[in-house]
Amino acid sequence: MPNLNAVSAEITAIPDPAEFSADAMSLASAPTNFFMTIRDIAFWIRSARADARLKQWRGEHQMASAFDRLYAGMIDPFGAGLPQFRYQQRKYDCLLSMLPARHYRSVLDVGCGLGSFTRKLAPYCDHILGTDISGEAIRQARALSLEHLQVDYSHEDILEQPGREATFDLIIVADTLYYIDPLPDGRLTSIARNIAAKMTPGGLLLLVNHYFFGADRASRNTRGIHDAFPRTSIFDRLAEYRRAFFLATLFQRSNS
Ligand SMILES: C[S@@+](CC[C@H](N)C(=O)[O-])C[C@H]1O[C@@H](n2cnc3c(N)ncnc32)[C@H](O)[C@@H]1O
Repeated sequence: MPNLNAVSAEITAIPDPAEFSADAMSLASAPTNFFMTIRDIAFWIRSARADARLKQWRGEHQMASAFDRLYAGMIDPFGAGLPQFRYQQRKYDCLLSMLPARHYRSVLDVGCGLGSFTRKLAPYCDHILGTDISGEAIRQARALSLEHLQVDYSHEDILEQPGREATFDLIIVADTLYYIDPLPDGRLTSIARNIAAKMTPGGLLLLVNHYFFGADRASRNTRGIHDAFPRTSIFDRLAEYRRAFFLATLFQRSNS
């Protein structure tokens, strides 16, 4: 078992720290104490069960229907908002701490699920839009967000490009891209272009995916996804954080 505190403390690859000097402060401070409790074992079992069901149903249905069936049949299948699980709340706090303290006018949360992180981010922006391929997830997210006036949701597939203007100054894509299978380079490039087309100049993208110990299949897949974005020359990588058990990269839309 690796030293999780060491993994958690690691920060890698800050290609141009000068980019960050104007934004030395972040939206929130990083959680300091340890991020998991014994109860979180149930969180991992729950997520693994959800993924196993998806895998089975995807053979029979389209992706959207498989996610609809999952969300309809199980309360919060990924345990994103369940208070008994500490890990995911710590993870969201961690993600907030990776975002520069700016005034965000318009934020997009792609693959928002039930909107747990969407609502967490809402106090820091004027408006936030959560989108998801599952109409059932969007229906539940709306019901959970009635008190959040600056939050809206829309039923959308990241692989289709809805006609939106370049209005978002921050886009979040958390734990979504690894569900797209297959995900060859050409598809990743078109996803990166679609995301960039929705951003204001200098807009930020926070990309988050599973990351375990580097050598396993899921981590290699994540590494491939995160490396594909800067290769497009549309995004500059500002910072990369390797945490237990995810990789988060902060990109900025390049001026070129
Ligand atoms: C594990 S959940 C992550 C939810 C949220 N981002 C979070 O971090 O709490 C993955 C979500 O990605 C959505 N998703 C998968 N493929 C998608 C696609 N092609 N377009 C939009 N959403 C997608 C699923 O419906 C699901 O709600």
